[in-house]
Amino acid sequence: MSAPLRIAIAGLGTVGAETVRLIREQGALIAARCGRPIEIAAVSARDRAKSRPVDLAGLTWFDDPAAMATEPGIDAVVELIGGSDGIAKATVVAALGAGRHVVTANKALLAHHGGDLARAAEAAGVALAYEAAVAGGIPIIKSLREGLAANRIGRVYGVLNGTCNYILTTMRETGRDFDAVLAEAQELGYAEADPGFDIDGVDTAHKLAILTALAFGCEIDFSSVHIEGIRAVSALDIAYAEELGYRIKLLGIATRRPDGVEQRVHPCMVAKDSPIAAVEGAFNGVVAEGDFVGTIMAEGQGAGAGPTASAVVADLMDIARGAVLPAFAVPARDLERPAALPIERHLGSQYIRLMVVDRPGVIADIAAALRDEEISVEAMLQRGRAPDEVVPVVITTHETEDAAMTRALIRIAAIEAIIEPPTRIRIEAL
Ligand SMILES: NC(=O)c1ccc[n+]([C@@H]2O[C@H](COP(=O)([O-])OP(=O)(O)OC[C@H]3O[C@@H](n4cnc5c(N)ncnc54)[C@H](OP(=O)(O)O)[C@@H]3O)[C@@H](O)[C@H]2O)c1
Repeated sequence: MSAPLRIAIAGLGTVGAETVRLIREQGALIAARCGRPIEIAAVSARDRAKSRPVDLAGLTWFDDPAAMATEPGIDAVVELIGGSDGIAKATVVAALGAGRHVVTANKALLAHHGGDLARAAEAAGVALAYEAAVAGGIPIIKSLREGLAANRIGRVYGVLNGTCNYILTTMRETGRDFDAVLAEAQELGYAEADPGFDIDGVDTAHKLAILTALAFGCEIDFSSVHIEGIRAVSALDIAYAEELGYRIKLLGIATRRPDGVEQRVHPCMVAKDSPIAAVEGAFNGVVAEGDFVGTIMAEGQGAGAGPTASAVVADLMDIARGAVLPAFAVPARDLERPAALPIERHLGSQYIRLMVVDRPGVIADIAAALRDEEISVEAMLQRGRAPDEVVPVVITTHETEDAAMTRALIRIAAIEAIIEPPTRIRIEAL
């Protein structure tokens, strides 16, 4: 058997500690499949005195992960600290600069600096591997880079954040509102104490920006992702969605069009019987559409210690076997820079919910605002009509331009009898 792949692990939290445990527990299987063992040579975390679920005896400890990354005798550095900048970035930059392979689960880092890091990896002739950064245990990066390599991908989308999907699923199952379900998710450990990155769509956008670059062979362009989270989704909208034959999901959707690339993250209504609607609870699901393969979908656990460590070690096994592929499927110098298509130009059907004081002429005013923007109504639902009572009015439209709907909603929101800001959820034909 060949010499071991000697690795250094930076970060020993949820994912780092489990990665140590997995490598130890599956050592024989890993060595058999790679033709060489993976040996943990060094580790680093913030607090050496902290009690950890794995025994670190015999491993060289570093207080500074960036210094560890350049230590002689290390073949690959595993970055499991997190954050788009700071010590995580310094560690990865140091490792690539010293000619070490890098494996990371850090989507924030890649979304912000993925292009530069890919160029640094290529200059050094080493791997920048990040299976764990997108959809946790689901091998979607390998699928796109290798299994679907012969296809042009036209669209890639998915449920990419388990916290949001758990909240939306629980809201539907229990009929409760967002705030109550978020509080419960925090108590159960499904949501962070500071849930902003998840529920405001940023985490999904990080992952989508990475998928876009890989699927379409273009530079990562995180700043062009249109991002809306799930805070405004109400129990009422979920109930209406159900009645109309939809489920509400927070999706990240990237579409390649002849004139550019559209990247958007927002709550979507999807047909109840579509495969993506069946991705429930904390699970993730990713769909890719290729010109020869058709549509493929992968579903599984998008986070958690075990699934994420599984992805980290799969990357290490590729490196141990000598497989070094370009990070984003084509050499970094060949990554394209297509135009970013803004959400304003997006075409699609929409769901609108208005809270209306039932007075004569209000519906006519709403209809006029839509008509003047050439928005064609597919259906309108209004219940519980009683003079001067507040009632929800739900409208679904045929395909319309996003900007036209925004203009119509500004006008509708100004109608005196509309007593709260309109709710808009885009309907996706998937
Ligand atoms: N958790 C998941 O399910 C999951 C899923 C997919 C991807 N990821 C990604 O994986 C990465 C790690 O996530 P995690 O959940 O494992 O985080 P975590 O539990 O918070 O662990 C972070 C680790 O980084 C260490 N650290 C922090 N600052 C440091 C510094 N200045 N120097 C050295 N070490 C430092 C911490 O040390 P101490 O232990 O001493 O505090 C800790 O061990 C993140 O990029 C995350 O986005 C996580």
